[in-house]
Amino acid sequence: MAQGSWYDADIDHVIISEEQIREKIAELAKQVAADHASVDDGLLLVGVLKGAVMFMADFARALGRYGPPIEIEFMALSSYGQGTTSSGVVRIRKDLDRDIAGRHIVVVEDIVDSGLTLNWLLRYLESREAASVEVVALFRKPDAIKVPVPVKYVGFDIPSEFVVGYGLDFGERYREVPYVGVLKPEVYARS
Ligand code: XMP
Ligand code: MG
Repeated sequence: MAQGSWYDADIDHVIISEEQIREKIAELAKQVAADHASVDDGLLLVGVLKGAVMFMADFARALGRYGPPIEIEFMALSSYGQGTTSSGVVRIRKDLDRDIAGRHIVVVEDIVDSGLTLNWLLRYLESREAASVEVVALFRKPDAIKVPVPVKYVGFDIPSEFVVGYGLDFGERYREVPYVGVLKPEVYARS
């Protein structure tokens, strides 16, 4: 038997496979590229640390094949703490490194859950006088409809369960899992 990864024993079931993620990102990149073919100063991708790092890395490279030139910025916000429930409180832990006035921005988000974080972020970017702000989110949960956030591009609508993998963590673990899955109940019990 081939040797597995340390996390195999902790995952209850896979929600979205590695291959599904790869195919979806190519699709999203083609759409975003087609919609921004005439943007001449390039697109500024803004990712939210740390969950969006995997998506940013793969999306940026996919977009590079079809789209205009891009630049990448990251912000760090506090939304979820160590656990699995939203605090509703958004705090900037790392701001943008430069001026975004007049720039066309695409926010690259791992997951939209309540929408509170994104709703706050969009208002923040607009207050910094971006020329336009759009959002691409790889995952969206049904609760997202409670706070109206204009997510122009969505990868997958997923059930309202806590998921890990592809950048998403539980207690900072499981970000390296290449797919998205649900943890076994005993994993929560032992933490
Ligand atoms: P809101 O509720 O503001 O939350 O849309 C968005 C942020 O919450 C985190 N989040 C998750 N993280 N598994 C995770 O590891 C999940 O199932 C999950 N749901 C939400 C994530 O940081 C996202 O940016
Ligand atoms: Mg987290």
